[in-house]
Order: sequence, then structure tokens, then C-alpha cells
Amino acid sequence: MAEQQTESVISVRHWSDTLFSFSTTRDPGFRFRSGQFTMVGLEAEGRRISRAYSMASAHYDDSLEFFSIKVPNGPLTSRLAQIKPGDPILIGRKPTGTLVLDGLTPGRRLFLLATGTGLAPFLSIIRDPETYDQFETVILMHGVRHIGDLAYRDFIAEDLPCHEFLGEQIREHLIYIPTVTREAFATTGRITALLESGAALAARGLAPIAPAQDRVMLCGSPAFLADMTGFLDSRDFVEGSLARPGQYVIEKAFVEK
Ligand code: A2P
Repeated sequence: MAEQQTESVISVRHWSDTLFSFSTTRDPGFRFRSGQFTMVGLEAEGRRISRAYSMASAHYDDSLEFFSIKVPNGPLTSRLAQIKPGDPILIGRKPTGTLVLDGLTPGRRLFLLATGTGLAPFLSIIRDPETYDQFETVILMHGVRHIGDLAYRDFIAEDLPCHEFLGEQIREHLIYIPTVTREAFATTGRITALLESGAALAARGLAPIAPAQDRVMLCGSPAFLADMTGFLDSRDFVEGSLARPGQYVIEKAFVEK
């Protein structure tokens, strides 16, 4: 059996010059856990070009959704940014990844910390009722340079709280903290700085982050991950995996080309 199968693009949404999302058909046999990724690709000039992409859709949705940057001249993203509804797209049959609830020991609060397109796996996790069964409070922080980079902002802040089935859990348990570093906004500064000072949490009546009660998932740029793991390690958080659950799990936001 081929490692990827051909699906069809359903819709494409361009958020900005550098960010877009697309949805595709989904084979009913394709199963994944919220937070996992798979290989997504195109046939171009007689060869396949694929990159790892996190599923941004809920595990129970009929379609799949992905969130991507566009890199000028990037071998895959420059082509992917041109896709249209009805176009064929290759989707890997084997989802995998460490950003899954089973990689974490039980806790009271779950921090989902993302920069840029690192938001993608968390869009799946915040739509999974299991997340709210396991954690009392889920704090989603999304750090970007400009307000225009806050993709899915209205969806998270406005649509999800009114969602037919998830709305109540979202309203009671999800706290969304978007933060912008290069222009004025309600919350500004890097996620690392916000957690260090605790101000953005205190402003919402939330205690500082601590390993006794908090679990953390990280997804973003290599520099963000390096600084965040340094921060967590210095506060005695222990990294986990499926084989050995811990207090935080980590995945880089894959697509850089
Ligand atoms: P900054 O504007 O201060 O660089 P990028 O688009 O470069 O991936 O950045 C996305 C967001 O992540 C930006 O707000 C950026 O802040 C922030 N960022 C970049 N490097 C780090 C880091 N080492 N730790 C925390 N946040 C970071």
C-alpha cells in the first residue's frame, strides 16, 4: 500500500501574504489522535514533495484541515499556496507525533503554547472533548509578530464558544491568550516573557505556571522551543513522551520551506 493516498482539496483560506489554511477530503480509514501530524504533499514535475503537517481539524471531522506558511520559492509551500478546490493532494496514511494527551501525567491546567503555525495541532486539541475531561483549565497562548498573523482568532474567540456541542466546555474551560510582539495589541510580548512575569496570567486571575498542577504542550519555532524548554527545565518540569508521560511535551512547527 502506498504511504500516501490521494485526497481532494475542499477549500483554501488565505489569512495573509504568508499564512493560509486548506481542507481536504478524508479517507474514513484515516484515524489520528488530536495533536498528531502526517506527511502532506503534491506531485510536481514528476516527483512527490512532502512535508510534515499537523492536523488542525478535530479527530471526528469528516474532512482534514491544515495550517501552513507560504515561503516564496519554498519547494512545497510555494506550490501548495496555489492549490484550489478540487485539486489532488497527497496525505500520509500514518499519523504520528508527541503532542498527545497520553504524553502527559494528570494535572489541573493544560498550557498549549504556540508560535506562528505551531497553533495547528492545538486547533485539534481544543476541539477534543477529552481535553476538557482531563483538565479543569486549558490555556492557549498564541504568539505572533503582527495582529494579521493571528489566524483563527475569531474562530477561537467567537465561534468556538457558541459551538453546538463544544460551546459549553469551551466557555467554561478554555482561556485564549493571543499575544503580538511587533505592534500594539491587547497583550504584547513573547510567550516566554509573559510566563516569566506571570502578568498576563495574573490579569486573568490565574496563578503562575508551576509543575505541581500544570502540564504543557509546546509547538513553534526552534528558538521558541529552546527558550521554553530552558524555562520549563529550570522550573523542574520533566519532559514526557507516550512511553513515559511527563509534565510537558514538545514538537517543532514543521513546515519551514
Ligand atoms: P519576536 O517578534 O520578538 O521575534 P517567528 O515568526 O519568527 O516564528 O515568530 C513568531 C513569534 O514568536 C513572534 O512573536 C516572535 O517574537 C516569537 N519568538 C521568536 N523567538 C522566540 C523565542 N526564542 N522565545 C519566545 N518567543 C519567540
